[in-house]
Amino acid sequence: MRHRLIVPSAAAACLLLAIPASAADATPGAPGVGDSYYPTAGNGGYDVSHYDLRLKYQPKTDKLEGTATLLATTTQKLSRFNLDFALDVSEVLINGKKAAYATTGAHELEITPSSPLEKGKQISVVVRYSGTPSQVKIDGFTAWNRTPDGAVVAQEPESAYWWFPSNDHPTDKATYDVSVSVPDDVQAISNGVLASQSSKLGWTRYNWRSTKPQASYLTTLAVGKFDITTDTTANGLPVVNAYSKDLGDNAASAKASIERSAEIVDWGSTVFGPYPFNALGGYVPNVKTGYALETQTRPFYSPSGFANGANTSLVVHELAHQWFGDSVSVKNWRDIWVNEGFATYAQWLWSEKEGEGTAQELAQYVYDSVPADNAFWTVKPGDPGADKQFDRAVYNRGAVALQALRNTVGDKTFFTILKQWPTENKFGNASVQDFVKYAEKVSGKKLAPLFDTWLFTPSKPGSLPAPGGKA
Ligand code: ARG
Ligand code: ZN
Repeated sequence: MRHRLIVPSAAAACLLLAIPASAADATPGAPGVGDSYYPTAGNGGYDVSHYDLRLKYQPKTDKLEGTATLLATTTQKLSRFNLDFALDVSEVLINGKKAAYATTGAHELEITPSSPLEKGKQISVVVRYSGTPSQVKIDGFTAWNRTPDGAVVAQEPESAYWWFPSNDHPTDKATYDVSVSVPDDVQAISNGVLASQSSKLGWTRYNWRSTKPQASYLTTLAVGKFDITTDTTANGLPVVNAYSKDLGDNAASAKASIERSAEIVDWGSTVFGPYPFNALGGYVPNVKTGYALETQTRPFYSPSGFANGANTSLVVHELAHQWFGDSVSVKNWRDIWVNEGFATYAQWLWSEKEGEGTAQELAQYVYDSVPADNAFWTVKPGDPGADKQFDRAVYNRGAVALQALRNTVGDKTFFTILKQWPTENKFGNASVQDFVKYAEKVSGKKLAPLFDTWLFTPSKPGSLPAPGGKA
């Protein structure tokens, strides 16, 4: 992309002067957090604690405009720092003072404060912006999907930079207020709790609030005409589900699945420990994409997920991610197994509970039915590579790995691990290696060789350990 440098006049004058001595030890924040699959994901030098997004969206033109206010703490003395963002910026303020900014690369906004920022300082960053997100293509792709009556943004591993400036990596979670004004004939859906809504001059503003740490890619927005159902769980959590009014034959099957979210979360709480968040639900916009995403508290589902009738298993997968992926997040995107292996295994446990096949039977079936020469076995779930991050091996072989663990340590220890891991790492980040160490600690067994076999070997393992925990 073009390199633009826009310097406000006051700052321009200073830049002509020599750099003051106090600035000498200030350095630029890194343009990435050091993720091995996505070197430009996230940024260094600061930690965001809160995003306040105040947006306005017109579905007819796909025009998005707004102001993002970020509260952050500097982690080094900063001469400048980056945000990940791809829309057009008209102004940046740091602590209320105009800052210079430039667009570099495909999705980096480089911000230079009028004077260096001390380490350990709380700062506010205001970014005013606008754009037509569906037109902003990066490598030919946009995560912002227009629908017949609105738009939706839900994508992994990156989607934020099509709609708000962020430190776009799961290692920097924050709380969110997402306030979106839309024409009165549509609604805006996001994460967490709908704190309030109000209408004036033909526009309705929806104020969504996420008060638990949330990764940027799990922050979602959908605008459109929805049927909204609300309820309260037995524990008093608000449930909000939203179904596009344009789902046709899939509406009933989507509802028959997603309306079971509270029941599934209650079941999950007995297996994975307390539900980490204070709201739940799901939403189905009228998009043609064929995946679902564990957007925090309120997963995104494609209508196609319900094209063959109810699909409770899919809802179990996305809700299991609330523990595995959303509360306990990857440290590095190569750790994707700590998300997908567990969410898939949760589907197997649900099947076991429903009497539709035990996890052992399902694992044995994956093992037996995929021949050794199938490319499936060449993918290492513990480090699949960016291009294979969502390969079915990460999911299915990843879940077989957990069955191999269960068979090796026995049910009692296995279910202790499954419940304690999300509790001990609540709202944190963990690597595959962290899980291996944790399982070794709880079981008192040396398990690294088992995980090497199931997660890090690019060929079919010789056999699946037999159930019984005698290994
Ligand atoms: N984490 C998502 C899931 O629940 C996968 C998203 C994959 N993204 C995609 N564009 N296919 O499995
Ligand atoms: Zn998943």
